[in-house]
Amino acid sequence: MAREKNDPGAAPATRLALAQRALWEAEDVVALGPPGADVARLGVGAAWIPDAHERAAAKGVAVGGVAYAGAHEVALTYLPKGTRRRDYVLALACSVAPRVALVGAKKGGIKPGKKALAQRGTIRATAAGAHCQIVVADVEQVEAPALERWESRFEVEGLEMVSLPGTFAAGRLDEGTARLLEVLELPETGRLLDVGCGAGVLACVAKRRRPGLEVVASDADDFAVESTRRSAAANELAVEAMGSDVYANVPGRFDVIVTNPPFHRGVGTEYGTARRIAREAPTKLRRGGTLWMVANHFLPWGEVLEESFAEVERVHAGRRFKVWRATGARG
Ligand SMILES: C[S@@+](CC[C@H](N)C(=O)[O-])C[C@H]1O[C@@H](n2cnc3c(N)ncnc32)[C@H](O)[C@@H]1O
Repeated sequence: MAREKNDPGAAPATRLALAQRALWEAEDVVALGPPGADVARLGVGAAWIPDAHERAAAKGVAVGGVAYAGAHEVALTYLPKGTRRRDYVLALACSVAPRVALVGAKKGGIKPGKKALAQRGTIRATAAGAHCQIVVADVEQVEAPALERWESRFEVEGLEMVSLPGTFAAGRLDEGTARLLEVLELPETGRLLDVGCGAGVLACVAKRRRPGLEVVASDADDFAVESTRRSAAANELAVEAMGSDVYANVPGRFDVIVTNPPFHRGVGTEYGTARRIAREAPTKLRRGGTLWMVANHFLPWGEVLEESFAEVERVHAGRRFKVWRATGARG
């Protein structure tokens, strides 16, 4: 296990946490939301990572889910993206340990994060480095946050969608998703996969429009998977939701894959996941199957799709979004 202070292979927040280990080290530390690859470096006793992609990198050491029920001395808490997710994770941290060490990037909002933490207790120490800050506070212990109180609800085609903190486009229908729904053509029967399902809008609308379809939804983010389960339950729709890094845990092949793929991760821009969704789609489609994909108009998915499909049609080309239909999977 690598535990050097200034490990160059670690994420910047981890490098700072390691350099300032004296501020948070204790007999019993849980890391909440660390990058999966950094869990071993931290040398903590427990880790919670609510993301299948990151969790896989932790090689079986971390638990997932939208809640964490342990009791520890210190919660070393990585600042998540988005205010709602941050506030939820801070509430969770305060239910888990009397001392919280919050670490995150300056560009990722550690300053407002520090303010939010200060409202929950007394700041004991702060330190900065690697463009990050770590803030340690003794906090008032609270009950585990009740997820029901953190839900946002919104309506799409008469369906009530449920979105948990930090789930994509929380509380509203995304414009790209709306464009895809306008042009989407669905068979009466067969299997459909919504990959990167968020709150489950595409999956639930597909199931409502075509009750004869078997609908599966997957997302790397456990909050998205749970949101989709709640959306499906709220409308009594049989949609199976599962945690998966792209297609990794999704069994079987499909007649239709629909996706509004991610192109952001953390504070940076990332196209790798969308590229994998497009390139690996042929391995998940049945013969004659179709991939439907929406993305911002400036993203070059048409060319990427042409590498994997014989027929790629741009079925919508608006000012902000394009929708592609790809058939004739190669290979
Ligand atoms: C642009 S959102 C679309 C959400 C939803 N389909 C909609 O249209 O409202 C992309 C989704 O991809 C998910 N995602 C990111 N990386 C992923 C990965 N490696 N595997 C699966 N899903 C991922 C994100 O968590 C997010 O929910």
